[in-house]
Amino acid sequence: GFWAVVPAGGAGTRLWPLSREGHPKFLLDLTHSGRSLIQSTWHRLLPLTSPSRLMVVTGRVHAPGVQEQLPDLNPLNLLTEPSPKESAAAIGLAAAVLARRDPEAIMGSFAADHMIAGDEAFLSAVAEAVETARQGYLVTIGIAPSHPATGFGYIRLGESLKIPEAPNARKVSQFKEKPDGRTAAAYLSSGNYRWNAGMFVGKAKVLMELLEDNEPELYEGLTKIAAVWDDEVLREQTMNAIWPTLPKIAIDNAVAEPAAMVGKVAVVPATFGWDDVGDFSSLTDLLPSESNRPRVLGDSDLVVTEQVLGGIIVPASGRVVACLGVDDIVIVDTPDALLVTTRARSQEVKRLVGKCRENG
Ligand code: GDD
Ligand code: MG
Repeated sequence: GFWAVVPAGGAGTRLWPLSREGHPKFLLDLTHSGRSLIQSTWHRLLPLTSPSRLMVVTGRVHAPGVQEQLPDLNPLNLLTEPSPKESAAAIGLAAAVLARRDPEAIMGSFAADHMIAGDEAFLSAVAEAVETARQGYLVTIGIAPSHPATGFGYIRLGESLKIPEAPNARKVSQFKEKPDGRTAAAYLSSGNYRWNAGMFVGKAKVLMELLEDNEPELYEGLTKIAAVWDDEVLREQTMNAIWPTLPKIAIDNAVAEPAAMVGKVAVVPATFGWDDVGDFSSLTDLLPSESNRPRVLGDSDLVVTEQVLGGIIVPASGRVVACLGVDDIVIVDTPDALLVTTRARSQEVKRLVGKCRENG
């Protein structure tokens, strides 16, 4: 059977002050849709497998929040990390546990915090990815890039794999994680690249083999942890002893880049709408707009504007937000923190948050 794994980590710092350490991005309902991002992810994955084969990997501190938001998640399928070790360890932990139970099991890892439009297209892309994974590939999903983003991984399309059940699947001839701006621009104009949607589908044993080849230390640590997984006491002890020693690396750098060089990565080009909602600029694009007026997330009665074009205003403190003669602005007003910046600079909020921490 197919296992869906949702790694839920990272604070979503660029969406501060909506996202906080205690309220990470994946637990937020960023567009006021009625579901948080992780709840939307859960519902999107349900048609692919039974709830008993849905797994979430998250930090210990976030486990109660995840369990509360996903009441149908089997507590045994909630894997918790003592500390954040990035995506290779998080996804690798799920792979190690599954590989011990059933090495041939196919798993797909899906970020907890992405927005997807067009569930049918999503499901059919994943179905093709699963068929491709049966052939032993690590399979990614490729999004047509719209601008030279530097926050994504880029996939160079290779030859068609000619798999009858997965007619769109192609080999990946190169995987480049987060290129610089010039490289990204060159990739975009070449027309041969896709963005990596942050989804990885493969046999549990294939993922483990790729880890063994490329991150042996991580492979060994995860294997030791998985060996005692079913014994609660030993699991806790082994986790506490080994987890802090594991290398901190993203799965993209640890596995996807080197595996693509030896022809083991495939891609299914996607046709669904996709956004990783990384910052307030991409959030702005996801909100319905009324002509050229700024988007408002929250009670629009609290927002008063004159001669203000574009941008986003989030009145989340109960206060009135009044704004005159500024364009493409970002204002996020929460009870204990206020952010003011421009759309163009919303990527840099991360740096600002670092500074806020320094100042206590
Ligand atoms: N459990 C857990 N623990 N999950 C984690 C951790 C961790 O320490 N660190 C990251 N994750 C999860 C995130 O929640 C997310 O679901 C996924 O792993 C990817 O991590 P990000 O930190 O969001 O990666 P990124 O956005 O910089 O880059 C990745 O996603 C892009 C698409 O949004 C890469 O896969 C890129 O290639 C890709 O384009
Ligand atoms: Mg991300």
